[in-house]
Amino acid sequence: MLRKQFQLPADVTQARAYVSGLGYYRLRLNGRRIGHDEFTPGWTLYEKRCQYQVYDVTKQLHQGENAVGALLGNGWWSSGLGWAGGHERHAKPGENLRFLLQLEVQCADGSQHTILTDGTWASHVSPILEDTLYHGETYDARLEQPGWDTADFSAADQWKPAKPVEYRPAIMCVQKAPPLRITGQLKPAKITEPKPGVYVLDFGQNHPGRPKLTVNAPAGTTIKIQHAEILRPDGLIDSVNYRSARVTDTYICKGTGTEVWQPKFTYRGFRYAQVTGLPEKPTADTIVSQVVHTAAPPAGKFTCSNRLVNRIVKNVLWGQRSNMHSVPTDCPQRDERLGWMGDAQAFAPTSIWNMNMALFYTKWMRDILDSQHPNGATTGVCPRIVVDGAGRAAWADAVSVVPWRIYEYYGDRRVLEENYEGVKKWVEYIRANLQNDLYEKPTWGDWVPVVTTPELPVSACYGFYSTKLLAQMADALGKQDEAEEYEALAKRQAKAFHAKYYHPETANYVTGTQTSNLLPLAFGMVPPEFQQAVADSVARDVAEHGYHHTTGFLGTPVILPMLAKYGHAEAAWRIASSDEYPSLGYMVKKGATTIWERWNTDQMGPEMNSRNHFAFGAMAQWFFEGLAGIQLDPDVPGLKHFIVRPEVVGDLNWVKADYPSPYGRIACDWRRDDDGSLRLHVVVPANTTATVYLPTAEVSSVRESGKPLAEAAAVRQRGVQGNRVVVDLPAGDYWFVSQLPGKK
Ligand code: BGC
Repeated sequence: MLRKQFQLPADVTQARAYVSGLGYYRLRLNGRRIGHDEFTPGWTLYEKRCQYQVYDVTKQLHQGENAVGALLGNGWWSSGLGWAGGHERHAKPGENLRFLLQLEVQCADGSQHTILTDGTWASHVSPILEDTLYHGETYDARLEQPGWDTADFSAADQWKPAKPVEYRPAIMCVQKAPPLRITGQLKPAKITEPKPGVYVLDFGQNHPGRPKLTVNAPAGTTIKIQHAEILRPDGLIDSVNYRSARVTDTYICKGTGTEVWQPKFTYRGFRYAQVTGLPEKPTADTIVSQVVHTAAPPAGKFTCSNRLVNRIVKNVLWGQRSNMHSVPTDCPQRDERLGWMGDAQAFAPTSIWNMNMALFYTKWMRDILDSQHPNGATTGVCPRIVVDGAGRAAWADAVSVVPWRIYEYYGDRRVLEENYEGVKKWVEYIRANLQNDLYEKPTWGDWVPVVTTPELPVSACYGFYSTKLLAQMADALGKQDEAEEYEALAKRQAKAFHAKYYHPETANYVTGTQTSNLLPLAFGMVPPEFQQAVADSVARDVAEHGYHHTTGFLGTPVILPMLAKYGHAEAAWRIASSDEYPSLGYMVKKGATTIWERWNTDQMGPEMNSRNHFAFGAMAQWFFEGLAGIQLDPDVPGLKHFIVRPEVVGDLNWVKADYPSPYGRIACDWRRDDDGSLRLHVVVPANTTATVYLPTAEVSSVRESGKPLAEAAAVRQRGVQGNRVVVDLPAGDYWFVSQLPGKK
């Protein structure tokens, strides 16, 4: 804890606090907490960049004596991160905390005052005896010093002078991405007592949170709360898969009546809490859980007539909330919770459908460039930590994929401008490491798949993809020479890849696994004359696996859109709606409330086995883009012009989706009726246009708002393409009815 008192000569007309710290700080003025943000100042590569927050504190100050206080915690800075513990350079929990404040005050008498952190502040250890990200928090309420953050504090003489330290990150920048906040509260749905005095609380949902305890017990009573994702057969918690993370919060009562406490500087993903030391059996109000994560605004909504798919959508969203903590993380529970870049780039489009991620990723891209090595190699984890070497393909390529996604979905050209040089450095690194025009370096490959795909060709695909994205960025930024140069470099890689890995007799790449074929197909490496055959190979393999995918982190995001694009939407639907292993539905059937790290998490040992990794949730992109059919126009970023191409598949009877695009709300709902007709409602927001691919080839069967197409004033017909009637629409609300082929 830090504190300082100061005088103000008159009423305050304006006051602002510019504030930062390492690791976490909480600012207090005259006995009150400032703001609702959690885990400020947020996670960055601290030696390069540190964020600060700005708060208007005009109302919290007054004429006369004032007090400012700060409470500090370890956080990402000094908790000691990484599975081997303490990889982090500053990992000295409790010894290494810093705080920086510039409080600017204007008073009614015209005077101006600046209160800064310096040697005039006083410090004291706080009641928080331990706090780290992985292990949890221990708090001894008997050590509280009431009034420590007010001007009426009597024990100030027992505090020691604070020690000024030098720490200069190259850049101090204001936080622009959304803050972490408490976004909800869960009550236990079930409380059991598997052993006398040991209570297990089931919150019914795996989520990122921390407990809030309300208790009345004698001084010195020690209440211990441990966390887990699963239970043992005897009903106690099983937290073996948290590995070295102790995830335990401990509260020692002061014994003064009803006490309310929640840890401040820790969180974890969990569903169950196991509690000991309570004076009596807990009720549903004794311990609740506060959900905490980066509070990006909610975005799209998707529901349909299939209940399993609706539950999957919820699990995907909980997986996303669980893994947004200043940076995208792999998991929220075990001794990692790191910014693994492969996971994030794979999940990026789905995350954008779910929440407004523009500022979150814009900030994380700065972390990626800060973490980039001087030779151009980007890392595998960002902020750079634990795994430091040159990033491996598909992880390192987040540097090119993520800015391109922001551009595609939000139309933000500036993010391309900001990242262009960094992407170029990465592609030049790739170029310097090409062998026979292929970037074949060790990588984690199509991580945790059902069937393994050799990793070197996966690396080569990503080498191509980053080069191609750079060419597209150059084109979007009007750098024509570079666009041509990198386009040519990408073509060389695609040609070499095709020559080395394509087997014409089977129409397969590499070993013919689904991912072997999907990556070249999705990235645009396959010559046009082979594309359909390669897509058919994927579909055949899916059928041979009983209509299942066999993909890992990298093949999973693209399998459903690629199947649908090449005429295998029914196969895509079978994968998406299955509840047999391997599938997202299987996880639901086995009780999952988030997305597992592995398709067979239930059959694997505990070591590398989280119940809360978002990467496989990437299939949900196709719910919005395939089932509802709201798709980007590759030539027009930001959904200024978009495509509606719904897939009416399987026994799906209706779909309802909407999305707050940068121009306003896009909506697409469809429902099929017993008579074989399809009703489709499309909302095209102001200042946008859309092209709709109606799932019928019979123009004469189509009506819009009750009129035949030819009479529907705003609708411009583009004819029939394949089995779809195509129409262009200006902004407006449209109600189509059409006859489904063969469904009469
Ligand atoms: C993480 C993954 C990550 C992988 C890379 C794991 O420990 O949890 O999600 O992408 O390592 O190998």
